[in-house]
Amino acid sequence: MKTEKFRLDPIFLGIVPVGARKALVSYMQKGTGAFNVYVAPFAGQFSITDTFVAAGVEPSATVNGDITLFSSVLGYAFDPTKAVSDLGFMALDERLVELLDGLPDDDDYGLGGSILLAIKWSQLQKQQDFVKWQRRELVASRESIYENYRDGLKSMGDRIGGLVYETRDALETMADYLGDEKALIWYDPPWYKGGYTKMFQQEGLYSWNDPNISELDAQGIESFAEKALDAAAEVLVFVESPEQQRKFIGDGWCPIFSELNAKTFKQQMTLTNRPTEDQALLSRRKFSGLPNKLPPIYDHHEITAKSKLEFVKVDAATGLYFYDLMVKGFAISHSEIYYLWMVDGQAAGVCGWITSHQFVYRDKRMYNWFAFTVICKKYPRLNRLMVACFITQSFVDQFFAENVPDKLMLAKPDDIQTTCLSKYPELKTMRGLFKLVSRERFSEMKASSLGYGFRLVYRAKIRETTYEDMLLAWLKKYEGQHG
Ligand SMILES: C[S@@+](CC[C@H](N)C(=O)[O-])C[C@H]1O[C@@H](n2cnc3c(N)ncnc32)[C@H](O)[C@@H]1O
Repeated sequence: MKTEKFRLDPIFLGIVPVGARKALVSYMQKGTGAFNVYVAPFAGQFSITDTFVAAGVEPSATVNGDITLFSSVLGYAFDPTKAVSDLGFMALDERLVELLDGLPDDDDYGLGGSILLAIKWSQLQKQQDFVKWQRRELVASRESIYENYRDGLKSMGDRIGGLVYETRDALETMADYLGDEKALIWYDPPWYKGGYTKMFQQEGLYSWNDPNISELDAQGIESFAEKALDAAAEVLVFVESPEQQRKFIGDGWCPIFSELNAKTFKQQMTLTNRPTEDQALLSRRKFSGLPNKLPPIYDHHEITAKSKLEFVKVDAATGLYFYDLMVKGFAISHSEIYYLWMVDGQAAGVCGWITSHQFVYRDKRMYNWFAFTVICKKYPRLNRLMVACFITQSFVDQFFAENVPDKLMLAKPDDIQTTCLSKYPELKTMRGLFKLVSRERFSEMKASSLGYGFRLVYRAKIRETTYEDMLLAWLKKYEGQHG
């Protein structure tokens, strides 16, 4: 019989994802700025300090801070001027005293390992069965788990030992360096209210010399971001989504990295307060499940009456990958069905479609969920050509053949509807092709926080034409206007 090996959840959640850390290394190695000091004011599990060092920085040039016992154990173990014993840790609960009994704790790593074991045990106090099971397993395997923590600390210490750490409020740490143009500050504050207080709550199980600094709140996050924008120091902000940027960080920041988080499907970004024109810095990660051969992106070559236009159905990962490449500033938008729009074999656009209602409600309408093309200076109305193509009978026939099994084939749709979020009350792209059927104006406050003021619903009759006809009409309409 195969037995499942006991796997403990990590103590700390919320480290910076690996893609953003790799991007930070390449950003630093491009030598965009050489700094005297590298600041990680929300040290957490020190993944950013590790990244600074991987990029070639001496640990002693990093300044770190955090407020929890967890981070302080690491910080005190790695800061040569401190000792973990200075943290004054004391087990109060009898069961905890017993758990730690006899575990070697006479040096920083030993004592650190036993405190980490205590923290993990304290996180397992809930009464759900699976938590109780984990707690029992932890007690039963306490020695090997302790050794894992101790050895883990030691191997981190081999990499980043020598750093500077203080159990300190991040706003204070950052205030020391904001005016220093030779300082690089990494800003990834706690986004979820009270999340870390909850992660490390211990209800009288142990005590330590806790300075009781409160977790940074939304107001603090926002007000620091405002100050940081014009600071002399370079500040890099890590956000998990464009909404987070809008809500907490604001405009004026320049992205140096963006990728789609494969778990949350959100577009996470690293932003800098030092704007750069170098778009090559903007690196993005491919989905691991993507086919090896992806079509090239449209290279802005001339579109002529002979150009070949087509739609190619792709899976969600591929569709969202191209969405991420083409769309900036919007959150990820899931659909059920994805198509790439190809110009002469190159991906020039991506669109998402929703069909479930067609089966469930016998709705006779097709719903386009999003439609974006590459941003193209030469053809500012490229998007219009794509939407013109998908309101043709040719596309609808292909779509139904590829997505709707004959048996389920209900009445064919006679129109296509799409909803656009826009800064403007009407979209030029749609004029003459679609009819505006409703317009919702957002309140001024909502509009300014969203970055667009209108929700526009457009509908188009499906046309008995071909892509070629649409292409000719588009070329004619914009003749002489292409740059
Ligand atoms: C998103 S995590 C940082 C993760 C870290 N950069 C890493 O990758 O390991 C946010 C951290 O901010 C810390 N924190 C919350 N409020 C703070 C404050 N007022 N001052 C300093 N750190 C704080 C939390 O304890 C948590 O470790």
